[in-house]
Amino acid sequence: MASASYDARRGELTTYFDRTAVEAWSRLTSDAPVSKVRATVRAGRDAMRATLLSWLPADMTGLRLLDAGCGTGALSVEAAKRGAEVVAIDVSPTLIGLAQERLPAITGGGRIDFRVGDMLDPALGRFEHVVAMDSLIHYQSADIARALGRLAERTDGSVLFTVAPRTALLTVMHAAGKLFPRGDRSPAIVPVTERSLKRRIASEAALDGFTWAKSHRVNSGFYLSNAVALTRVSPSPRLRGGSR
Ligand SMILES: C[S@@+](CC[C@H](N)C(=O)[O-])C[C@H]1O[C@@H](n2cnc3c(N)ncnc32)[C@H](O)[C@@H]1O
Repeated sequence: MASASYDARRGELTTYFDRTAVEAWSRLTSDAPVSKVRATVRAGRDAMRATLLSWLPADMTGLRLLDAGCGTGALSVEAAKRGAEVVAIDVSPTLIGLAQERLPAITGGGRIDFRVGDMLDPALGRFEHVVAMDSLIHYQSADIARALGRLAERTDGSVLFTVAPRTALLTVMHAAGKLFPRGDRSPAIVPVTERSLKRRIASEAALDGFTWAKSHRVNSGFYLSNAVALTRVSPSPRLRGGSR
């Protein structure tokens, strides 16, 4: 079960990504011109998406992938082009609508099933891979670890996600952000240290069968994010029991 703080934050993010920031987010994720600051964010996000995709198999034919908090769906499209059966879910109906409008023709066997809802919904089924790019960065570290646990229970291969690293510079930028009027602010990004995240992951029972395989930092102007790969090293209890 998710926590009250997870539910509250998901509600704020729904308002933000479905209303407050739709225009900005639509533009940032398109080819339209953006400010110099946003161009650094776009470049950073492109590099991050490339990193996460490089950690997935080149041929994903028949593999199920959950794009958890898919936004306008750029990563889903690349995975489907590799043959993956993608479930792309987001709490923002508007962003899912944009993703569907922008969907290019996918040749080969890949496809994308777009859904509006919570990435932790068990009804989404089991996956070989889960990717949560910049969708858990607004949650508290305890909620991030719990969410990873819920996702991992349904994953047979890897859970790839990003977190905002806690650095001195980010703390300053974060403090500066608080000077903006409330209405202009995005829900705060919650920076975490690798040490505390590893500690929380170690104490999350559902992540017992997983190992912290690798991490990679992308730092591009105003974009700073760490990618982490958790990979399954022992079968889930369900699979150990022989049933699937
Ligand atoms: C910063 S955007 C990133 C979107 C996309 N992953 C990308 O990199 O382009 C974060 C997205 O996560 C979604 N999100 C946040 N919490 C979610 C949840 N619990 N379930 C599903 N989507 C969620 C938001 O609506 C938003 O579209």
